[in-house]
Amino acid sequence: MTAMQSRILGPEVDRTRFGLGSAYTVELFTPDEVAEVSSAVRDVPAELRHECWRTSGDCGMATIGEPLYRNRERLDYYAASARRENLPLYRHFRFAHERVAGFFEERYGVPVVYAESLAVPGFHVFTFDRPGEYDGGGWHVDGLYAQVPYLAARQREVEGVVNFTLPIEVPDGGSGMDLEDNRPDSFQPGGGPAVTVPYVPGSLMFTEFDHWHRIAGSRCFEPGQRRVTMQGHGVRFRGRLLLFW
Ligand SMILES: [Fe+2]
Repeated sequence: MTAMQSRILGPEVDRTRFGLGSAYTVELFTPDEVAEVSSAVRDVPAELRHECWRTSGDCGMATIGEPLYRNRERLDYYAASARRENLPLYRHFRFAHERVAGFFEERYGVPVVYAESLAVPGFHVFTFDRPGEYDGGGWHVDGLYAQVPYLAARQREVEGVVNFTLPIEVPDGGSGMDLEDNRPDSFQPGGGPAVTVPYVPGSLMFTEFDHWHRIAGSRCFEPGQRRVTMQGHGVRFRGRLLLFW
């Protein structure tokens, strides 16, 4: 293959099917690049890190940036946080943002844009102090465009969605995402063929449909494991891909 062909084709995207659903993965970052993002997560300015919860001593979760799903009941706070944090967050993780945006620009052939009052993609940081099995998250669909008032009022103009996760650190016993296809005979989401997509650091995982899904459980063999993922959502709208979370 010539250099030109490889540039046009871009990196190879793997597809995992579950029923009519698909999840995609693509290796976007080398191990050295993953280590660079990981140390940027450890060095993140304290004001960009938000502690969310902690169980009785062995598991905690924080976000870097303020995601919409944790602020649905306080959209003014969400928008103010985005205005305050977007520039320092983007600059601190510029390399990761540009790599992810560049991949999607090539895949969809449209420019990636961000909005002042929507948070640029941020991070989930789970810490597991002790070895063991840790439960995942609750089942849900993202449907982010329906929760942003500006986009909700223009839903008919939404041409497509993308939901992505970039694993940066994965516990030594593994973690990932659980997904279920919908059943053709039910209005309830999920209930169809299921899959767990294992997370691999540096390998971007994404879907192009709002599937029923959850954070999969985490298994830890050694103490002090972390599960660090960059998270984002995209809406194709008016010839652009708007990224936020
Ligand atoms: Fe989700």
